[in-house]
Amino acid sequence: MPQYTLTINNQEHQVDVAADTPILWVLRDHLKLVGTKYGCGIGQCGACTIHVNGSAVRSCSLPVSAVAGGSMQLTTIEGLSENADHPVQQAWLEVDVPQCGYCQAGQIMSAAALLKSNPNPNEDEIKTAMSGNLCRCGTYTRINKAIALAAQKQ
Ligand code: FES
Ligand code: FES
Repeated sequence: MPQYTLTINNQEHQVDVAADTPILWVLRDHLKLVGTKYGCGIGQCGACTIHVNGSAVRSCSLPVSAVAGGSMQLTTIEGLSENADHPVQQAWLEVDVPQCGYCQAGQIMSAAALLKSNPNPNEDEIKTAMSGNLCRCGTYTRINKAIALAAQKQ
């Protein structure tokens, strides 16, 4: 089994896994970072969203070999902020977004990546950026409201 070095939430980790192992399973099964969720496994729902060098990516569709090495900075929901006080997390609490909660880590990671690249998105830009994150509970209205609020908080 090859060994890969990963930088996740500013910490280095070594893992021995097959090259095509999705990073989602490295996070969950090997490193016990279970905030990142498995939804569809085929890049369609966004539940598994993490950041790679600040951009939102689907960890279920990303092989470990593609993100190993020094230049790739991976961030999971556990590392988004030190005290769960990222503006998106604060806004999520204020708006009381979650219902069952399953999709929410992915939603928050996508929202945080959006605000990093576009600090003041309009309604259409929010909808477009979040269109790949599905919520079976239908919390979309609150998600959009929380993102607009988070933009004001930055
Ligand atoms: S689990 Fe990755 S997109 Fe659905
Ligand atoms: S809060 Fe239940 S799936 Fe989104």
